[in-house]
Parts: sequence; C-alpha cells; structure tokens
Amino acid sequence: MDYKKDFKFLEKNIVYFDNGATTLKPNRVIEKMDSYYYDYPSNAHRGDYNISMIASTEFEKTRDLVKEFINAKNREEIIFTSGSTESINMAIYGYFMNNLKSGDEVLITKSEHASIVIPWFDLENKLGIKVKYIDLNKDYTFSIDNFKKMINSNTKVISIAEITNVIGDKRDIKEITKIAHENNIKVLVDASQSIGHIKVDVTDTDIDFLAFSAHKMLGPTGVGVLYGKEELLKEISFIKGGGTSISFDSPKKIVYKDLPYKLEAGTQNIAGVIGFGEAIKYLNEIGMDYIEKYTNELKEYLVSKLEDNENIIMYNPRVEGSILIFNVKDVFAQDTAIYLNNHDICVRAGDHCDKKLYDELGVKNTVRISLYFYNTKEEIDKLVKVLNNNNILEESLGI
Ligand SMILES: Cc1ncc(COP(=O)(O)O)c(C=O)c1O
Repeated sequence: MDYKKDFKFLEKNIVYFDNGATTLKPNRVIEKMDSYYYDYPSNAHRGDYNISMIASTEFEKTRDLVKEFINAKNREEIIFTSGSTESINMAIYGYFMNNLKSGDEVLITKSEHASIVIPWFDLENKLGIKVKYIDLNKDYTFSIDNFKKMINSNTKVISIAEITNVIGDKRDIKEITKIAHENNIKVLVDASQSIGHIKVDVTDTDIDFLAFSAHKMLGPTGVGVLYGKEELLKEISFIKGGGTSISFDSPKKIVYKDLPYKLEAGTQNIAGVIGFGEAIKYLNEIGMDYIEKYTNELKEYLVSKLEDNENIIMYNPRVEGSILIFNVKDVFAQDTAIYLNNHDICVRAGDHCDKKLYDELGVKNTVRISLYFYNTKEEIDKLVKVLNNNNILEESLGI
C-alpha cells in the first residue's frame, strides 16, 4: 500500500529513515490540531461554554482511544504526560521512590535508553537501591534465561524497553511479566519504540507500568502516556501539583481529585492530545499487524541489499524489526550521515542515548536506519545506490 499521499512532507522527495527518533505526522493529524486552534481554542475541563466543552470532549476522546489501543481495563489508567521521559520519571519518582528501600534491586539491561538508566541510577544514589544489568545475548538481544539467573529475594523491579532503540529487538514482555510476578517483581515497560510498531496489550501482558510518546506513533511532540494499573497509580505521589489536580485547596487541607486528573496538573497540551487521537485512529485503520509485518520485510530487504557491499559493517542484521545500525568501513558515522543528507536521505548517527551498549559493541557511534510503513523498497534502492560509492568520506567533507 502507498501511504505517501497521507504525508504532505513526503512531497519533498526526502527519504526519511529516522523514524526511531520521531515519525512523520499525517496531514489529518496536523489538520485536527489546526481545527482545535481555529475552531475551539479554549482550555479543557474548565469552561462552561460551548467551545470549552468541545475541547474537553475531544481531549477525553483521546483517552478512550488510548485505552482501547493498549487494551487497558479502564480510562482512569491513562495519564497524559509530555512524553516517555516524563512518564518513566513519574513512575520511578512518584511510585518506586516511595516503595523501594536500601538493598532492593532493580534489573535493567545495557540496551536501555538514557530515560530509563538515568532516573534509576539517581534512585540508587538517593535510596541505596542496587541497579543491576541483565547480561544480553551475543547478538545484544534480551535473554530470558539471564533474567531468571538475576532474580533473588531482593529483586523488586524489572525496567526495560519492549523494543530497543539501537538493536531494535522485541522482548517477550508477556513471558517476562509472568516470571516477574511469580517472584513479586514489578514491571515497568518503556514502549517508546514498540507502541507504533506492534500491538501492545497491557491486559494480556499484565504490565504494571507502561510509558510511551505520541510523537513516535504519528502524533505530535510534547504528548505522552503513562499507563499504570489503577491500584498502583492511586499510590503515586505526583511529581507536580496544581490546577485540575485538586478539588479543594486551603493552606491546611488539600484534597486531590481522582485519577486521572490527580496526575494531570496544569493546562495540558490540548491540541497535542487531540491530534494524538487522530494519529491513533489512522494507525487503527492501517493495522498494527500490517505495520509490523511490512517493516520487518523492509528491513530484510535492506539487509539483503547492503550485504552485497563489502564496505558496510552491519551490527544487527539478523534481528527482526525495523532498525538497522551500520557503519561504512573507515568512515565516521556522522560523516556518513552528512554524506547521506547531501543526497536527501535522513538517518541518525551517534550512540543513540545508549553509551553502555556502544561499549559492548566496541564502537563509539553507528549510523541508524529506522523504518516505518510509509518507507518503500525504492527508497532503500536509492540508499543502497548512494552507499555504493568509494568516496563517501571525501564527499561528506567536500574534498
Ligand atoms: C527506547 C526509548 N525510550 C525512551 C525514549 C525517550 O522518548 P522521549 O524523548 O519522547 O521522551 C526514546 C526516544 O528516543 C526511546 O527510543
């Protein structure tokens, strides 16, 4: 299927291969946000006049769409945030900081994004908990056996991505949660890279907390979600208080509103949340199974084409998914990215917020190609052709 017509940006004929950083926005998402600003540009949940009520209704419709999209049990379990990073921090500082004590252990891997790693190590410093790495397999994918080996009576949390942002491997969250819960371990899942690529089902997998950003699933920047089981969210002490989160306020007595409003203090990103709802509707029309299958096939095609070029070193060619990291022999990753940019191909170069993994990989940086359903084989053919050039370094440096 050709989805290019749904994205005005793609009329520019730029090849966009940086979907792991953020996805493009379909026209209908942009139009939906425009219509908020043009037709009912009011605050939500606060006005007793028509356009404010429309804003509130549209805002709350997105909560229902998110609930259905991740199959949560009820809408109060969906908290709007500014993105994955805030959602993860909210769970860690709002829930775990109050429920962990010195000596408790938290399991992560060296393949996690900085937004998981940083707050956990901060909590290690603050509380004296221990953050431990589960060893990865030789191909840097997750190992259930290694996870089991790490469990002891002090293990209280496992905090990992469902799909990682460098290797792109998909973890079996249902199995991980089952093992975790048998051992009284809570599960915090970073769904930043999975939410727009595979079907995420919090009820089937029995996840405790789930975090994701709208902008990685066709929605706008500045919007995200923290899902939590209701009984856990009720226990969260919020990390920000203010308007909407309280029902009665006096210097002596503060009464917090019920979920979800207790955790959504202040004016929200109303246009963003409304646009996010439109992104979910569009994803539902396309189908998550289709997106997963198509992007997996596209990656296989990419790998098969690059295998013919002996100057290309691929680090995760056999991992199923939509992400490929590679380098051109003797060319610094950023130089390759600049060279590709000169050919209107957008890729990311660097350590992708995951320095620890790069220590394991034995390189400092790589180029990352992250695919989505609007990418095509023709675009990959263009990339492959452009990479079949022995003068990449010279051309990127303009010599
Ligand atoms: C796996 C993973 N986790 C968390 C994040 C943070 O997302 P955000 O910057 O939208 O908060 C990212 C962003 O790249 C990511 O890839």
